[in-house]
Amino acid sequence: MSLTKITKKQALALSCLFVIPTISAKPLQPTQQLLQDKFIAGKYSTKGADSCLMCHAKSDTVMALFAGAHGNTASSDGPMAQLHCESCHGPQGKHKGKNEPMIAFGADGNVSAELQNTVCLSCHQDNERLAWHDSVHVDADVSCVSCHQVHAANDTILARNQQNAVCSRCHTEQRAAMHKRSSHPLENNAMVCGDCHTPHGSLSEAALKQPSVNDSCFECHAEMRGPFLWEHEAVVDDCSNCHNPHGSVNDNLLTRKAPQLCQNCHQPDGHQFNVEPTDGNVFTTGQSCLNCHNQIHGSNHPSGNYLRK
Ligand code: HEC
Ligand code: HEC
Ligand code: HEC
Ligand code: HEC
Ligand code: HEC
Ligand code: HEC
Ligand code: HEC
Ligand code: HEC
Ligand code: HEC
Ligand code: HEC
Repeated sequence: MSLTKITKKQALALSCLFVIPTISAKPLQPTQQLLQDKFIAGKYSTKGADSCLMCHAKSDTVMALFAGAHGNTASSDGPMAQLHCESCHGPQGKHKGKNEPMIAFGADGNVSAELQNTVCLSCHQDNERLAWHDSVHVDADVSCVSCHQVHAANDTILARNQQNAVCSRCHTEQRAAMHKRSSHPLENNAMVCGDCHTPHGSLSEAALKQPSVNDSCFECHAEMRGPFLWEHEAVVDDCSNCHNPHGSVNDNLLTRKAPQLCQNCHQPDGHQFNVEPTDGNVFTTGQSCLNCHNQIHGSNHPSGNYLRK
């Protein structure tokens, strides 16, 4: 393999690489400091990947890189067209094993999550990752490689039927919810977290793809959008006032059952004395409040006031 010259764009991106932590308040770990010095010295190998593979070729993990996108030697903007292995692991310098570290990734990596991400962003700073820096994942030190695998033929999370499993490794609350009695079809991967969320962050609350909770729901439940002649303010405000999108022990993803659900906001005794009670207690049996207020999401019926038809 021959080593192509470093491109201008790459040089610029890489030059930012280890500059960020020097202006950050956090003190640098000794290894990170060492890697920074090594980066500035910029002693790249002369034979690219070959310099590394003379020692690392026996590792199946390392070699799996060549079955994936980053090992593609035909790509004109991938690592193999640039600094090969060192596009990600930094300059070799004197590294021949334990004598001197290389940038290592993952939860046990030897540089901060922020720096690991900077390596990836040197090539992937594009529209898809515009909101990355404002994302809660960044604040929580989640790195690109918490979700992605590079030394692999197939990056697991990119397979739709694996996404929920990868996200659920950390999001145990949502994992528990999706197995509850009522849930979106997440358990069988017919729906994925990414149908509502953007993994790389968004400017909306809870990293939603759409600008609001309701807009997220309308993508698939358009019939709930309205406008209705008789609106229910609670619905117009936020579907999650009553529903947990990830799952619930109650029917219809409801956070609580009626009448408690309704009594979160409405007086418990309310208008009891104004309505005609039928058999039993019409407020607690059957559909409870929905015995009468059965158009809870809004009504277009001329006489559908109070959400009754
Ligand atoms: C002379 C042999 C040799 C060469 C050449 C070599 N390495 Fe290594 N490298 C090793 C050994 C041995 C280790 C394991 C050290 C240890 O156990 O901590 C290692 C460790 C690493 C690690 C750290 C793995 C981890 O999880 O901490 C990375 C990354 C790495 N090498 C990348 C490279 C790259 C990239 C190149 C080429 C620029 C390269 N190596 C060249 C022998 C070599
Ligand atoms: C696109 C960035 C990227 C490129 C290019 C890359 N690596 Fe890696 N490397 C990683 C990441 C990320 C990991 C952590 C494991 C993972 O996510 O797949 C890693 C892990 C490693 C490890 C530790 C593996 C282990 O067994 O734990 C070694 C050694 C290594 N890389 C060597 C290399 C060599 C040699 C090359 C060139 C042939 C190379 N890498 C190219 C990003 C890269
Ligand atoms: C030297 C530039 C470069 C670096 C550094 C780099 N990538 Fe990439 N990456 C690419 C290119 C080029 C592609 C292929 C794009 C395409 O095929 O459309 C790619 C593809 C991907 C894909 C899609 C893979 C697929 O199978 O379709 C993911 C995910 C990804 N990169 C994540 C990462 C992560 C995580 C890192 C940091 C560990 C990283 N990249 C570092 C250039 C880079
Ligand atoms: C929380 C998990 C998660 C994190 C963290 C994450 N990704 Fe992704 N990434 C995904 C998922 C899921 C997909 C596939 C769905 C999609 O395209 O949005 C994806 C797709 C991609 C792709 C291929 C499609 C595209 O969007 O261009 C690239 C490249 C990529 N990610 C790069 C990165 C980089 C770089 C980082 C770090 C700055 C990163 N990702 C962090 C989950 C994650
Ligand atoms: C049907 C759309 C939808 C799907 C699918 C979905 N979410 Fe959500 N998620 C939301 C909405 C809406 C919110 C914000 C309102 C709320 O907290 O209920 C949210 C909030 C969150 C939060 C923040 C919770 C908090 O308390 O701040 C996390 C974490 C989360 N989702 C993770 C996931 C994961 C992981 C998956 C996949 C297993 C997933 N979501 C699937 C719609 C969805
Ligand atoms: C390595 C662990 C990890 C993985 C994997 C992971 N997350 Fe997270 N995520 C976190 C942490 C930590 C937070 C911040 C604390 C919290 O809200 O739990 C977070 C926060 C979130 C939030 C709340 C965002 C906000 O603005 O309030 C959403 C939504 C979310 N993650 C979705 C996802 C999705 C979707 C995936 C898979 C594509 C995923 N996460 C994968 C660790 C992870
Ligand atoms: C990507 C499409 C999609 C999005 C976005 C979506 N849903 Fe759904 N929703 C579905 C599907 C599919 C079903 C299952 C229909 C079935 O099984 O008959 C469903 C079912 C439901 C149910 C009935 C559950 C049950 O137990 O019968 C409720 C309630 C619901 N969704 C509320 C919401 C809310 C609230 C949002 C916004 C946070 C939302 N949905 C966003 C696709 C979606
Ligand atoms: C005031 C509480 C409340 C709010 C807010 C609310 N819902 Fe519901 N939702 C219910 C109740 C109660 C049921 C079960 C009885 C029924 O179907 O009318 C239900 C059922 C559903 C169902 C499944 C049954 C069907 O009719 O398809 C979907 C889908 C749904 N809601 C979507 C939404 C969406 C989307 C929003 C936001 C625009 C929303 N809900 C806001 C209380 C609420
Ligand atoms: C998150 C708070 C909230 C929840 C939960 C809620 N509501 Fe409401 N509801 C409101 C608000 C706000 C209004 C409008 C102001 C008012 O009349 O009090 C309203 C109005 C109403 C109206 C009068 C509509 C009209 O046409 O004037 C009825 C009937 C009603 N709600 C029934 C219910 C029922 C039944 C439930 C339970 C399934 C419920 N609400 C749950 C907040 C809520
Ligand atoms: C037997 C039928 C019936 C049941 C059951 C019922 N309602 Fe009503 N509700 C009515 C009628 C009829 C009205 C119209 C105004 C009136 O007569 O007071 C009304 C009006 C309302 C209003 C708007 C006027 C006001 O008093 O603020 C709210 C809010 C309301 N109901 C909430 C509830 C809640 C919460 C429950 C369950 C605890 C419930 N309703 C159960 C029939 C019923």
